Order: sequence, then C-alpha cells, then structure tokens
Amino acid sequence: MLQKPRGTRDFLPDEMEARRSVEAKLRGIARCWGYREVCTPEFEDLDLFTVRSGEGIIDEMYIFEDKGGRKIALRPEITAAVIRMYVNEARVAPKPLRWCYFADCFRYERPQKGRYRQFWQFGIELIGADTATADAEVIALAADMLDTTGVRYDLNVGHLAFLKNLLRDIEPLAQRRVMAHLDKKDFTGLEEALGDLGKSDLVPPLTDLVECRTLRDAFEIAGTVPERERIERSITILDASGVKYSLDFGIVRGLDYYTGMVFEGFAGNLGAENQIIGGGAYRLAHLFGGDDVASCGFAIGFDRVLVSLGAIAPPKETVIAIASTSEGSLSAPRIARAFRAAGVRVETDIMERGLGAQLAHAAKSADFAVVIGRREAESGYVTLKNLHSGEQKTLDLATAIAEVNAYGAR
Ligand code: HAM
Repeated sequence: MLQKPRGTRDFLPDEMEARRSVEAKLRGIARCWGYREVCTPEFEDLDLFTVRSGEGIIDEMYIFEDKGGRKIALRPEITAAVIRMYVNEARVAPKPLRWCYFADCFRYERPQKGRYRQFWQFGIELIGADTATADAEVIALAADMLDTTGVRYDLNVGHLAFLKNLLRDIEPLAQRRVMAHLDKKDFTGLEEALGDLGKSDLVPPLTDLVECRTLRDAFEIAGTVPERERIERSITILDASGVKYSLDFGIVRGLDYYTGMVFEGFAGNLGAENQIIGGGAYRLAHLFGGDDVASCGFAIGFDRVLVSLGAIAPPKETVIAIASTSEGSLSAPRIARAFRAAGVRVETDIMERGLGAQLAHAAKSADFAVVIGRREAESGYVTLKNLHSGEQKTLDLATAIAEVNAYGAR
C-alpha cells in the first residue's frame, strides 16, 4: 500500500471541519483588525529565501531545479514572499498595508508531534509603519488571535536592540553565530563561540540579559540603546491595550531578517515543539529591489495550536436524508433542490436501496428523514421524521424547510 510522504498528514472530514472552524475564528479576528488576505505561490525562486532567512531555514528547504534549470524552493515561510509581492505589486499603495494569509509551508525537519514537513501558518504582515504603535498593534493582534482559538499560551516580548548593543563590536557573520547559540539557549556553545572571538567578557552580561525580566534591568545590562524611547513607548501602549505578556530579552528568532521588537508564544501543554507563534519587526523590501520599508508581522503555527487544543468536535450541522419509495423517487431531486436552496445539507439515496434500507442508513447519518412515497408525490406534501425523537409530521414543503432550519438554529 502506498503511503503519504514522511512529515505530511491526511485530514479526514471531521478533522477538516474542526480545522476550518478554528481557521474561521482567526479570519474573523484578522478581518476585524482590517487585515486583508493575500496569496503568494507555493514555490519561489530559491534566492528569495537565501537572501536573509538564515542558515537554519536554508538547511531545511525543499529545493529543486525545474525543467528550465531554475533553482526553485517550496516556501519554508511566507513573510519573504509577501514582501516580494509587495515590492512587485503594491509598492505605491498608500501605507500602512495590513495583510494576512493562511497557507502551507514546507520544511525538511525531523518529524515529531507538532513538527511536520508540511504545516500551515496563519500570519499577518503590517507594511510601511515604523512606529511603536505599529509594533504594539501587531502584538495585540497576535494575542487577540490566539485568544479566539481558546489555546492556553504564554507570550514573551523582547527587542533585538539590547543584544545588538552588547555584540556591536563583533562582525555580522560572527554575531549571527553567537545569536544562534542564544536562540537555542545553548550557553556552552555561546561561551565557546565568544571565547574563540576573544570576547569572553560578554558571557556574563549576555547571560544576565537573557535572564532579566524588566526593561530597567535590560537597559542597565546593555547600556544605552538608541531605540530606548521607542521600546518604552511600545511597552506602554501594550500595557494600555491589556495584553498579557512577559519581557524576554533573550529572544533572537530563528530567521535573520528581524531588526527590532520580537516576540514568541508558547503553549504549556506541548512538548519540545511548543512554540505556537513567532514574529517581530523586520526589513526585507530593500533586499528585493524596493524601498527600505519597515514591516512587522507574525505567523501562528496553526497545526501546533490544533495539537494544543486537542480533540475539537466538528461544528454540528443539521443533515436531512431524502428517503423515497419507487413512486416517490422522481420527486426526490426537486425536494432536495428546495431544501438545498434554503441552505440545508441534504443527502439523497444514490445506492438505489429500498425505503427501509434508506431509513436505516439515514438513522446513522442524518437528523431528519424526508419521506416521499406515492401519497407525498401526489399531494406535494412531505413526511418529515425527526430521527432522534422519532416524531413524524406531514407538512407542506415550505413548512418542512422552516422546521429543519429552526431545528438547526435552536
Ligand atoms: P517561524 O517562527 O519560523 O516564523 O514560524 C512561525 C510558526 O510556525 C512557529 O512558531 C511554529 O508554531 C510554526 N512552525 C514552524 N515550523 C514548523 C513545523 N515544522 N511544523 C509545524 N509548525 C511549525 C516565521 O515563519 C516568520 N515568517 C513569522 C513572521 C511573520 N515574522 C514576521 N512576519
């Protein structure tokens, strides 16, 4: 028997309906905040992701050569593609641009619970606003979206300015190596890397910074950072917005394009793969041929949110089954059409079974049976049977439809 590729999943209807119900909640919040959906290709020129995504992501990419000899990558994330699209299509649009997306990404990682090779992100990008208010909006929206799903999480907010200030005398490539150790909280690797650079004196302040939880301490450890006012202001706005978060100045993010405020969220009931959201302020547009536009965004790991939520009952929908005798069978399509036109989910018999077998099947899959025999076919009335209570009524079609809809709305 052929199997699906490692790290991918199949979703049966119950699971798809549960997933769609969570997706609909996220879409609802994005809409209320004025974020409009965009869509980019599943694959892009490889260069798009090698410019500034970082070694971690590059190692995990699905890369292939197409028939024209172009190097192509399946998107490992969507931010770079959205900014490429912004530069291509919307550079002159009035700012800010508020965009959102729900799409699958591909990373060749070692699969485990919550870590897949194909996974979905619900993300937003706020393009063209370089303010503390913009940073705060993005974090508040992230919290609002996570809250709507019902997931329990902790949100950590930081800013790269502190680390960058401490590492300012180290050249950019070595800086990234040091930050990669910090990202993994690998303090042994950090000490070794700083030792190799002759910068062991940075180990204590870096360790203190990672552990400190107040802005005042962070400024004390890292010294004067030029972004001080902006950082204080975004935190003040965040507090005024009622968002629950902790400060964490050890947040580095796995992707290389971040420049300012950064944040991550974790679900307590997940194992090693417990990060359910990541984001921050970044600059990418100038690398793709556009102006140096400030952007800020995040992506929610949709699959991890679902794992954290556990079993979700698919939304309940009223189902009717049309069951007919041979004399009534030719009336069935017209009656089914009338119910469907009223938005009701209708199943009809396509197995050409007898009435008894149709009703037995309906009892397993439907809430109501609409029975059409010779009498019903001649009179234009239908027999509506509630399959849960057994109650049965003969009604005109419009009343039967109203009754089914009222049952669904109760
Ligand atoms: P990221 O942290 O790489 O950020 O991914 C965002 C989220 O996607 C993670 O927090 C995690 O929940 C989920 N995720 C990542 N890898 C996997 C995987 N293999 N399986 C399941 N879920 C996974 C970004 O991708 C940035 N583009 C976010 C962003 C948007 N920053 C600014 N704008």
